[in-house]
Amino acid sequence: MAAVQKDFKKSVVYQIYIKSFCDSNGDGIGDLPGITSKLDYLARLGVDYLWITPFFPSPQRDNGYDVSDYCAIDPVYGTMRDFDTLVAAAHERGIGIMLDMVLCHTSTEHEWFQRACAGDERYRRFYILRDGRGSMRADDPGEPPTNWQCAFGGSAWEWEPRLGKWYLHMHDPSQPDLDWTNPEVRAACADVVRFWRDRGVDGFRFDVVSLLSKPEVIEDVPGDGSACRSLVADGPHVHEYLQELVREAGIDGMVTVGEMASSTLEHCIRYSRPESNELSMTFNFHHLKVDYAGGNKWALTEPDIASLRDIFRTWQERMQEGGGWNALFWDNHDQPRAITRFGGRELVGERGGSWEHVGKMLAIMSFSMQGTPYIFQGDELGMTNAGYASIADFDDVESKNNYRILLEGGATEEEALHVVNERSRDNGRTPMQWTAGEHAGFTTGTPWLAVPDNHVRVNAQGEEGVPGSMLEFYRALVRLRHELPVLAEGRVRFLDAGVAAPQVIAFERTLGGVRTVTVCSFDDAPCCVRGLELAGMQCMVGNYDEAPAPAEDGSLELRPFEAAIFLR
Ligand code: NOJ
Ligand code: CA
Repeated sequence: MAAVQKDFKKSVVYQIYIKSFCDSNGDGIGDLPGITSKLDYLARLGVDYLWITPFFPSPQRDNGYDVSDYCAIDPVYGTMRDFDTLVAAAHERGIGIMLDMVLCHTSTEHEWFQRACAGDERYRRFYILRDGRGSMRADDPGEPPTNWQCAFGGSAWEWEPRLGKWYLHMHDPSQPDLDWTNPEVRAACADVVRFWRDRGVDGFRFDVVSLLSKPEVIEDVPGDGSACRSLVADGPHVHEYLQELVREAGIDGMVTVGEMASSTLEHCIRYSRPESNELSMTFNFHHLKVDYAGGNKWALTEPDIASLRDIFRTWQERMQEGGGWNALFWDNHDQPRAITRFGGRELVGERGGSWEHVGKMLAIMSFSMQGTPYIFQGDELGMTNAGYASIADFDDVESKNNYRILLEGGATEEEALHVVNERSRDNGRTPMQWTAGEHAGFTTGTPWLAVPDNHVRVNAQGEEGVPGSMLEFYRALVRLRHELPVLAEGRVRFLDAGVAAPQVIAFERTLGGVRTVTVCSFDDAPCCVRGLELAGMQCMVGNYDEAPAPAEDGSLELRPFEAAIFLR
């Protein structure tokens, strides 16, 4: 069993995007020895688990989420010995390692797909193959079998002449989906998970696991085909498959999190309640769509805070009622940086204007809600969007596809660049800002993705040990989360902050006789909250130098983007 087995409800997880974390050998790409070299930094931050994004052999069409061999290490990231060294060194510091399992699809370069293309019947049955619409002969592709669109733009079907069929890919054409109705596929995937369990890891993150079980009938969806994602999510056998995987791979009791693309609340409860024996917790993404105009990621609008509040209220209270458990996060390698999204654009003055307040406000929120907080590398420094000057600076396949789609739709280059700068996944993938020096101390070579200019100001070395810095603030929150049971286990209830505070999100946690109230203002102007029963409560942590104090009538004046946790 796992060497590090902590109660996931009391833990804090740190996500490492390996390619951008720390480069040990000057090739411009982060690697396993780079992570090992930063373990003391992570131990000082106080985190319990590291989730490391995929480092398996891969043609890197989707930065490692296109895996060509599940049980090996891509030489660019190091060797199996480097991996064992990392695991042992993390364990010495009481830190557990969680690996990223990409079992919904392989790379087209995976041996299974290659064998299928070579005509091996057994492996043809590993993938989802269909004839084309209107095809008259075996070698005539016809049209794609359905109107389904893949996640990165374009049809979800690709014609492969060697197969004589179209194959389904919910993501890039280089990522064919596996057919989980095939017991041999399920057994092969369980072997992969068991392999890493036996190698000493402590937990797993499962990539787009809500999409494992496809609908029994694969047919057109209404509209432009992008609705196929919700159709595929939480499919007919997904819970059975997960239970079987946990059983067969022998990972019951290990910490696990599922990435739930387009999943519903009811299913997230089922995935994560203990009696299901599926997962410890789930990621959902509904709160990160509140700035999509008309639900379209590539159409910009200001974040809708009323919707944000409703989404959190619903997910927090109902997951709790159903016995489920949330994974709490604002950022990951698929998201632009939340600090920029929610108004922290000004990095001015000695301490940093709205940048500082928004960064700390978001941290206060995720560290005091129900669930397990995740820190994405650089959150703890206050890293922001990249602000690239040219489309040539971007790397991500989704960003490049959508830049092209925006131009085809009539946008100017300047407009399309602006949208991509706001929405690109590369914003979350820029190199970790270790120092104010060249390439932010990430590499001695040329980084694979350009370092944002603000690393001269926002970096670990400059924040280390500096009272009030973002880094020290995060450390204090991790400590608080470990020390104050009400934050980990208390009952959550959302509160109404009154008509004069429409941009405020407030909630309480209660355990025994202890009550905390968290107040977060997303407003760039001052406001006043009422009705939170704050009279007599003490501010335990806040994002301004002087703590906010409730008036005798319990009302509270808040400064722009102010946030605090009160305790009684
Ligand atoms: C979710 C991952 O986080 C993302 O980076 C990837 O592109 C897709 N799943 C497909 O694997
Ligand atoms: Ca390297």
